[in-house]
Amino acid sequence: MQNGRRETLSKPNDYRFFPGAPEGIIDLCDAADIAVGTSRVFTFGSGASLFEMFVMRPPENAPLGPASADGLVAYVNVCPHAWSPMDWKPGEFLDYERRYIHCTTHGAKFRIDDGICIHGPCIGLPLTPVPIVVANGVVRVAPPLD
Ligand code: FES
Repeated sequence: MQNGRRETLSKPNDYRFFPGAPEGIIDLCDAADIAVGTSRVFTFGSGASLFEMFVMRPPENAPLGPASADGLVAYVNVCPHAWSPMDWKPGEFLDYERRYIHCTTHGAKFRIDDGICIHGPCIGLPLTPVPIVVANGVVRVAPPLD
């Protein structure tokens, strides 16, 4: 485990506390490039400051929480159980039934809409959301105004 990630354990659930997190407003991709039921992974930094996040357009009928933007959700690709990446192959985050985000390391499942773990070793813990907006068809990281 990287020391930077260990530090995040005692801090709020804010993506900006992760080493390598993008600063400011960052354009990611065209929203239309993320098909229903798929995700795209975005990487920033390198080495100990490698930051990875994903943007998902959930499968049809998946609930969406207030944090969704144009039907998209975004989270840091780090599981709150053992702080490992979650996709079982690059960009594949859904469980077999395509109802939950799945961590491949120990099998935790997270609700798509709010990132809360509902099954597995970190039940009740949240994924770290990344605030996004869609403007003129472009998905952007949009840091909170604080
Ligand atoms: S690291 Fe994700 S369930 Fe253990």
